[in-house]
Amino acid sequence: MVIQPLQAQELPEPDPINGAAIYAARCANCHGPMGLGDGELAPNLPNPPTAIGNPDFLAANEAFDIAQVVYNGRVQNGMPGFGNENNSDPLTDQEIFDVVAALSILPQMNQPIPAARIFGQVGNGSQGELLTEGIVMLETFTADFEPSGTFSTDILADGSYSFELSDLPPNWLYRTFVSYNGLDFGSNVGRLTPFETEATLNVIVFDTTTDDSGIRVSQHQTLVDFGPGNVQIAEIYLLSNSEPLVYIGDSLESGTVQIPVPDGAENVIFLQGFGGAENFAPVENPAVENNIWRPKLDVLPGEATLQLLIRYTLPFEPGMTIGHPMPYPTDFIELAIPNTGAAVSTEVDWRPEEPTAGLDGQADQRLRFSRSPMPPESTWAFRLVGFPNLVIDADGNRIQQRDEVSEMLIGAVVLVVVGAIVAITGYSWTQQPPAASDQEALTRRIAALDLAYDEKTISKRAWSQKRADLLGQLKSVWK
Ligand code: HEC
Repeated sequence: MVIQPLQAQELPEPDPINGAAIYAARCANCHGPMGLGDGELAPNLPNPPTAIGNPDFLAANEAFDIAQVVYNGRVQNGMPGFGNENNSDPLTDQEIFDVVAALSILPQMNQPIPAARIFGQVGNGSQGELLTEGIVMLETFTADFEPSGTFSTDILADGSYSFELSDLPPNWLYRTFVSYNGLDFGSNVGRLTPFETEATLNVIVFDTTTDDSGIRVSQHQTLVDFGPGNVQIAEIYLLSNSEPLVYIGDSLESGTVQIPVPDGAENVIFLQGFGGAENFAPVENPAVENNIWRPKLDVLPGEATLQLLIRYTLPFEPGMTIGHPMPYPTDFIELAIPNTGAAVSTEVDWRPEEPTAGLDGQADQRLRFSRSPMPPESTWAFRLVGFPNLVIDADGNRIQQRDEVSEMLIGAVVLVVVGAIVAITGYSWTQQPPAASDQEALTRRIAALDLAYDEKTISKRAWSQKRADLLGQLKSVWK
């Protein structure tokens, strides 16, 4: 993909000050703070990063051409692409032009700032009033978000505060916060430059509540994957709080929002999200009781103020139902499962959506299902029908599921399915299928048996006898 000239013309004037902030965060580590090609990562790259802040470079290249390189990158030479299709945390077209505009002011932007002021007001958002006493802390960070200092000052009787600062290094970031009733409330992150030496950073604090009636799940998304003998589930919650009060559970120590997992969930991993698909960190020391996980994290008023991800595995059983109670009203619910043979039964309100292609094209296509919003205290559940022909092992390798028993049992059906998968993945028949464990083999036989029964190729009596037998064997090998 390239940026179309038309799009560039439609964009507003580039903002070099904003661009300089993006440059400091995304480009300086390779190209150097002044664009001289001397960033800290430069020695590790296949090609030296171009001195893009050099006036000769800027005189010789049109902004539009530079923008196009930034959009597409030259990946094999060590220059990543930052455009929509080329980056997991892409820059918008506008941001790319902002960065390009910043290249000519990098020398000025990298001067220390002789004098600057950070000020603002502190209000109580629950009461709609200004705070007239207390302390405001100022935290400073380098461009890489490393803490670089703290300062403090009093809140004045009119609810305002002010920090007078001098001799600041370039490209630092600033944030103020106020501790109120034992909780910290922070401002947005601000920046100072030689061109803008004042920043307003207001802080809003809130009273607390132990009542969860304001808690909603604005989005619940589930990613299903198949491992050898198991189903791997990842559930993402975007939690919102519609009350102007911070929800703290019965107490922060006992945990706040309830995040349930199904009975028998294994290998549970509980993570907090910080925006962006890759930005997750473990929830520290969660409270766990009766399949309910609770983070010791407060929920601020507003939309999606807490993002949680819970992952777990369940032993795979053909036709299994996966589900748990959903304690809060849930607005948007989606489920995505690999398009490799298994599917979600549509009998309980799940609607199939238009398929979307995965990162590596067709092969990762997932089937997507959604359902209507759920009132509080409902049950979220789905039933898996069919069985996966491709599983991902612990090292992320794709394993083709295939054995003679299933082929004999379901004949033509399996051939059609396997044929489709060969077409999709380019899997070659000359490749040896990996040796399967007893668990996998049994699981596949049960699945094949169920399919055969669904296809009416065996009698109900034969099916139920064989299934009980296989399930017994499966239980005995499942440790
Ligand atoms: C991981 C290191 C890295 C990062 C991050 C990076 N670059 Fe680069 N960049 C390079 C390297 C290496 C080259 C030289 C590529 C080559 O030799 O073809 C390059 C080349 C370029 C060029 C092409 C210059 C020419 O020769 O025409 C531009 C423009 C550029 N980078 C801009 C940026 C901008 C803007 C950012 C931030 C949004 C950025 N780069 C981030 C490594 C990086």
